[in-house]
Amino acid sequence: MNTTFIPSHKLNQWMRDIRRTLHQYPELGFEEFQTAQLITEKLDELSIPYRTNIAKTGLLANIGSEDGVGTIALRADLDALPIIEKTGLPFASKRPGLMHACGHDGHVAMLLGAAALLQDKKLPGRVVFLFQPAEEGEGGAKEMITAGALEGVDAIFAGHIDRHYQVGEIGVEAGLICAYTDTFRITIRGKGGHAAKPHETVDCLVTASLLVMSIQTLVSREINPAYPTVVTVGRLQGGRAANVIADTALLEGTIRSTHPEIRKKVIKGLTRMVGAMEELYNAKTTIELTEGYPPVINDPTATAIAKAAATMVVGNKGVASLPHPSLGGEDFSFYLNKIPGCLVRFGGKRMDMQGEPAHSPRFDFDEGVLAVGASFLAQVALTALERINELKDLLPRSEPT
Ligand code: NI
Repeated sequence: MNTTFIPSHKLNQWMRDIRRTLHQYPELGFEEFQTAQLITEKLDELSIPYRTNIAKTGLLANIGSEDGVGTIALRADLDALPIIEKTGLPFASKRPGLMHACGHDGHVAMLLGAAALLQDKKLPGRVVFLFQPAEEGEGGAKEMITAGALEGVDAIFAGHIDRHYQVGEIGVEAGLICAYTDTFRITIRGKGGHAAKPHETVDCLVTASLLVMSIQTLVSREINPAYPTVVTVGRLQGGRAANVIADTALLEGTIRSTHPEIRKKVIKGLTRMVGAMEELYNAKTTIELTEGYPPVINDPTATAIAKAAATMVVGNKGVASLPHPSLGGEDFSFYLNKIPGCLVRFGGKRMDMQGEPAHSPRFDFDEGVLAVGASFLAQVALTALERINELKDLLPRSEPT
């Protein structure tokens, strides 16, 4: 390790305790009141000044001087998920139906750890710590920006715990690493009636079934296979009784794409297929599309800086590339649409587990990742301040269309 930011045994324990406390008391997006309270207590322990109630439950803390070379932001997300935990961990969720199943408890702990590592260092500029609510679908990042979190910030960095990599590995890649996420809601209206008299009805369940199957050909037959794309119907609802033909059906799902043209093409194709059901089966249809997160596109300069910092923390061997984008979404993209930055992946695979994915009720990670994450975040802030001129050259940014 070439970094000076190596957490002590005591700091590692401090981070682990924070993670475990948060894990026991998960909170959903924009409801992270207790989480925010714990963060203020920890920042008080470190004598780091902060502001609360940013975007409702978010916090902004900062160290270093405003009159220095520039400002670097580091971000952690705070929210948990509506999942019933089945890990059996001694520090499992004490709130039935809520769980930290994406590692955000770890993200908070490591960002506080980074603050502890940076706090007594002489910094050439300022480091802002963004504790952001509501990453899981509600776009807390957008609210943080509206609340002024990026004011005076030159670049932003963060990491996400990833079970595909081992502790001691950091995945760093320039360009698009997370997908466009759009959701759709399709309503099919037929004509209800007696199950024994289908000729008097328009059976919307038959229409819905055919539509689900037709949608499968969108990606496989209409989209260039060189561009990763997914269309998933995650909810199909209709009918109430065995002897009744249902008069409405509901389909909900998500579109994940990695190119703006492909995204447009999928939406157009889906709309066409839904409309065709009217002609084909006499049903009435409506489709509502909701734009989700934009894709995360890591800036090449910020990525080079992240790679240099990662190399200092885990060595050349520990720096992994991301061979293909994740089709998951991440609202870190909202920051990257405003200023340069880079989102990395922190290896957190638990070697004794058969890879339970994030958002699974059995998800857990190796807490060794906390030390690596804290080290990296502290190091990347310093390296970015030292190389601030490269980043300042990239500003101002115009928002992509
Ligand atoms: Ni997450």
